[in-house]
Parts: sequence; C-alpha cells; structure tokens
Amino acid sequence: MKIKNICCIGAGYVGGPTMAVIAQKNPDIMVTVVDLDEDRINQWNEKELDKLPIYEPGLAKVISETRNRNLFFSTQIDNSIEKSEIIFISVNTPTKTYGDGKGMAADLKYVELCARQIARVAKTDKIVVEKSTLPVKTAEAIQDILNNTGNGVNFEILSNPEFLAEGTAMRDLAVPDRVLIGGNYKTKNGKKAMKSLVNIYESWVPKKNILTTNIWSSELSKLTANAFLAQRVSSINSLSELCEATGADVLEVAKAIGMDTRIGDKFLKPSVGFGGSCFQKDILNLVYIAKSLGLNEVAEYWHQVIKMNNYQRFRFAKNIIRSLYNTVNGKKIAFLGWSFKKDTNDTRESAAIYVADALLNEKAYISVFDPKVNSKKIMDDINSLGTRPENQNMKYLKFEKEPYKIADGAHAIAILTEWDEFKNYDWKRIFNLMNKPAFIFDGRNILDKIILEKIGFVYQGVGRR
Ligand code: NAD
Ligand code: UGA
Repeated sequence: MKIKNICCIGAGYVGGPTMAVIAQKNPDIMVTVVDLDEDRINQWNEKELDKLPIYEPGLAKVISETRNRNLFFSTQIDNSIEKSEIIFISVNTPTKTYGDGKGMAADLKYVELCARQIARVAKTDKIVVEKSTLPVKTAEAIQDILNNTGNGVNFEILSNPEFLAEGTAMRDLAVPDRVLIGGNYKTKNGKKAMKSLVNIYESWVPKKNILTTNIWSSELSKLTANAFLAQRVSSINSLSELCEATGADVLEVAKAIGMDTRIGDKFLKPSVGFGGSCFQKDILNLVYIAKSLGLNEVAEYWHQVIKMNNYQRFRFAKNIIRSLYNTVNGKKIAFLGWSFKKDTNDTRESAAIYVADALLNEKAYISVFDPKVNSKKIMDDINSLGTRPENQNMKYLKFEKEPYKIADGAHAIAILTEWDEFKNYDWKRIFNLMNKPAFIFDGRNILDKIILEKIGFVYQGVGRR
C-alpha cells in the first residue's frame, strides 16, 4: 500500500518528536498529529519555538523544517483518521488509579477510545499502529473493537513500540538501535501492512536495524526493555548503600564491572532513584500481568526493582535529615533540579517530588531551581501527592528563577537532576551565601568532591563516603 497520509493520535512526548522525524525523513508523506488537548496543539503550532510543549534538544530545528510543510498539528481527529492510510496510537497509558488493578495495571481507556473512534470514522482500510506502550495481548482487544464496531473495512494491527529516551529523543529517533515492528506475518494483509511500515522507516534506518516479529513478542519486548533498564539502575543503587557502609566507591565498582563487555558500562549511574513516566508504570504493569497469570515468583522478582527505587529516594531524604543533626524543621534546603533527568522539562515520577515530600513532612523549607521546569509544574507535582493541604505546600515550597537565589540562607544544597550547567556554577559564591556548615547532597555524583571540600562544603555523593 502506498502511504500518502499518516495520522498520529496523541501529541505528547512520543507523538510529537516521533512524527517530526518521520515527516522529516519522508517529505512526500503528509503527517498529522492530533490531540484532544487544544492547548497542547496550540503550543505545537506556536511560532516561537521555545514555546513548544516539550523541551527536547534538537526538536525545534526539526519542527521548523517540517511544520506546515508535511507535518501538521491539529484537533481535527476524525478528519485526519479518515484521510490516512496509517494511524498511530500514541496516547498515554498511565497506571490505573481505580478499580481492579488499581496502582498496578495500565489504564487502557484512552487506547480503547482511540480504537472506537477509528472504527466509527474509517470508511477505507486502515493500518492501526500501537505506538503507546501496552500490555501483551492488547492488539487482540483493539482488533476486536475495530472488527465489531467498524464499517466493514479491513483493519491491520501492528505493534511498533517506541524506545526513545527523553533528553536524547532526537538522536534516538535519527539513529535508533532498532525499530521493532510486530504484526501478523502469517496472512497476506498482515505481511503487506508490515511492509508498508517498514518502508517508512527504511527512508533513514538501515534494513538490518528494522526487526520484524510476531505481535505479542513486540508488545512484550517493550515492557521487557524498560524492566531490564530500570533493573540495572536499581541494582547499582542497591550497591551504593553497600558502598557507603563499607568504604567502597560505587563509581569505581561501576567502572570495574562495566568494563566487562558481557555487562557493559551503560545504565550503571547511581542516583537518587529513577523517575520518568514509564519505568515504574511499565514494571508495575509487568508485575500485574505476571500475577494475573499466577506467576507469583516472576511478579515478586520484578516488583523488587520498584521497591529498591522507592527505598533509594527515601534513603536520600533520610540522609539529609540525619546529616543536618536529625532535624530540618525550619531549615532551608535548596534543590538544584526537579525534572526526572537532564535535558527534559518532564517531571513525571521525578525523584525530586518524593524527596521534597519527605522533607516537607519534617517541616523543611525547600527552594527549587530547574532550568526548564516552572513553578506551576512544581506545585502541581507536590499537590498531586495529596500529602498535605495546598496552602501548606505553598508556604514551604518555593520556586526561584535564578540559581543563586535558592542558596541564600540555605543549610544544604541537594542535587536532584544532573543538568550540565550545575557543574559550572560559581560554587565559592554559593558557599558564601549559605548557612554553615554548608552541606551538599549530590544525588547524581556530578560535582567534584575535592574542589568543593576545599571551598569548605561538607560534600556527600551517592555510594561514596
Ligand atoms: P503524553 O501524556 O505526553 O501524551 C499523550 C497525549 O495523548 C496527550 O497529549 C493526551 O491529550 C493525548 N490523548 C489521550 N487520549 C486521547 C484521545 N482519545 N484522542 C486524542 N488524544 C488523546 O504521553 P507520552 O509520554 O507521549 O507517552 C505516550 C505513550 O508512549 C505511553 O504509552 C508511553 O508509555 C509510551 N512511551 C513514552 C516514552 C517517553 O519518553 N515519554 C517513550 C517510549 C514510549
Ligand atoms: C526510558 C528508556 O530509556 C527508553 O528506552 C524508553 O523508551 C522510555 O523509558 C519509555 O518507555 O518511556 P526515559 O525514561 O526517557 O527512557 O529516560 P532514561 O534515560 O531511561 O532514564 C530514566 C531514569 O533513570 C531517569 O530518572 C535517569 O536519571 C535514571 N537513570 C538512568 C539513572 O539513575 N542511572 C542510570 O545509569 C540511567
């Protein structure tokens, strides 16, 4: 099938960048990204590129090249579905907050709404692509809805999970380790649909990096990839505590094991805990699926990755309290960073939120600076936990637009995100602004301990004495 029009439902962190790159590499295909959220679409259409809804290095350049050439952002969902041969579903699949599977299973209501809308609107055959991360076997449910509520046209379902990481999304999309396409290669239509999607990626991805599998393998591979990545972070974080207790240095341990090519050196950075919208959600989903199938040992094994991550966040906050003479009541703690990692404005499940919550419980005052996160986002994040009344959060948690302001009168600096610019701050100036002894809790091990101790700081990293 010659593809002339693509529709992507969901203009989020995945839909926006992914479709921008597909449009850039396939100038003869019209790509429309649609969303229910009018504000978000307006932001994607903003003339000033620093007002795009997501911050991602390199994204603005691709948007300026493609937008209104063959990339469009719109709220006209029906219209875009109708004219497209391929429809990507790229909507959010958060953890359920109600009913059966609450706190564990993925909430598929947004995906189901998309399937029903596609079925209602489609008057010609369509290829429907799962771009969202979904539980294994979801394609069966989507196929069922499409077949039973559609207008008698043919729907082919493909799974094409996205592996981009925020902060490096544009590079990940431009030179992906692999593109995974799952489909029904036993039928003629299934094979044809897979070929159509392969063709789109072949515009820039080498053939050998495009992997085709059966649909269930593709769905499960996405959850598995995230589980393995998160497991490495929890593994090194668990050892960071052992290092602190024994005098071993976790960075030296990580280097020593990472040089073993069987282990590899990536994803071995100890931290205040992993965040982001997906690791926790996807592992909880995996745990839920295993439990539902009666595989309790499998479920328990993966659940431990989440428990260790929660413990690491808690341990970081507890160490601040213990080091500040067992009380932070009335003391000012300055947070450098709020996003869940550098080079993104995304704060979903950021460790900073949970560390702040623990310190606010102890009546600390927290001042936050983050280069890409604004005060509204920070207040929304803390209020969403529902731990205390919003006016209490307003009183104790403050946001500053200037990094040196947060240091003024602070008892401690806590580094929650590894933004590069933090390394180049005038640390002598910061020291002079602070209460003494001036503590630094470096949750990302980005600063130079020796230099800071020379200035006079009491410095503590993660996994290093
Ligand atoms: P997001 O919340 O940023 O964006 C989802 C968008 O879908 C929102 O703008 C929402 O308004 C829209 N939406 C929801 N229901 C809709 C409907 N019925 N019709 C039209 N629009 C609708 O989410 P995201 O971070 O882009 O993630 C999307 C999916 O991709 C998730 O399943 C996630 O697990 C997966 N994923 C995310 C990343 C990442 O880095 N964020 C990476 C790989 C995979
Ligand atoms: C992750 C995966 O890396 C992507 O492949 C996947 O597509 C995506 O989830 C998803 O499904 O959403 P992302 O969450 O954007 O991407 O970012 P990562 O680089 O994986 O970092 C996740 C968290 O782990 C961050 O908080 C990061 O600071 C932390 N981390 C990462 C560490 O603490 N140590 C490390 O060594 C690596």
